[in-house]
Amino acid sequence: MNTIRDLKKSDLIKAYIDSGFSAETAAAEIDFAIEIISGLTPKDLIVGIMPSLKDLQKIYDAVQTRLSTRQPMAQILGYAFFMGNKFEVSINTLIPRPETELLVRKAIDIIKEKDFKQILDIGTGSGCIACMIAKNTRSQVLGVDVSNDALKIALNNAMHLDLMNRALFRKSDLFSKIREDEKFDMIVSNPPYIPLKDRPHLQIEVRDFEPETALYTQDDSGLEYYEKISSKAHQYLNTNGYLAFETGDTQAEKVKAIMTDCAFKNIEILKDVTGIQRVVCGVLNI
Ligand SMILES: C[S@@+](CC[C@H](N)C(=O)[O-])C[C@H]1O[C@@H](n2cnc3c(N)ncnc32)[C@H](O)[C@@H]1O
Repeated sequence: MNTIRDLKKSDLIKAYIDSGFSAETAAAEIDFAIEIISGLTPKDLIVGIMPSLKDLQKIYDAVQTRLSTRQPMAQILGYAFFMGNKFEVSINTLIPRPETELLVRKAIDIIKEKDFKQILDIGTGSGCIACMIAKNTRSQVLGVDVSNDALKIALNNAMHLDLMNRALFRKSDLFSKIREDEKFDMIVSNPPYIPLKDRPHLQIEVRDFEPETALYTQDDSGLEYYEKISSKAHQYLNTNGYLAFETGDTQAEKVKAIMTDCAFKNIEILKDVTGIQRVVCGVLNI
């Protein structure tokens, strides 16, 4: 390549492959960068609409940063897509994962079926779960988190999605700032679930760049947050209220047992598209 004007998608894909990435990852990340930076979709490119020179330079720079540091592309660009919506992200928020859509879709189905109105999202991070539930139902969602920096991003996302009245955010260590007279029809949570001892085995992108408070538990099983949330949930749930969790690989049956011990019944486990048991939800039996 002589100048930025000569930059081709195939050059960028080659750079990714030379750095050890698959061609699929390369194409997906480059399309994502092009869309975030220039607003152009792969279809636009096929019909010959090209990013401006200024945007081409930004796309090139983003790829250079990605390949030289291994920082996730979403953090470099400051955005991620979740359920087709653009969410601001930062080094202080977990990047929303596609598998979390399963939890949100299940929650939305239950909320619509039961006409639930008040929802609590524990560990809201970027606010992706809270915002998507608020956007797709008639409920009001309170997202709580221990991280002030994450809460600022969650608020920005609610503002951009025009959900300010129905997605609310508050700093709280789990239930610490929830009053006992505040009752919810459903509690959803995608809590930290990776035992700290597993840190060395994580992908560099996760281990070195995503916030530790979003990832790790202090116990060896990764079940700490499921236990803490399940054991207190009955104090904040209405009669027949639901608790729904995202779980890590191999944790779902253990989370089901924890929820059973905490008086939940009709507990369902849902698998994600890769066959991993990813969502556990049940109804309070008291
Ligand atoms: C796995 S991330 C999930 C973020 C977001 N809900 C999502 O699904 O992308 C877990 C979140 O829990 C928050 N968190 C960790 N400990 C917490 C606590 N004790 N109370 C409230 N939130 C906590 C972290 O700051 C982080 O935002």
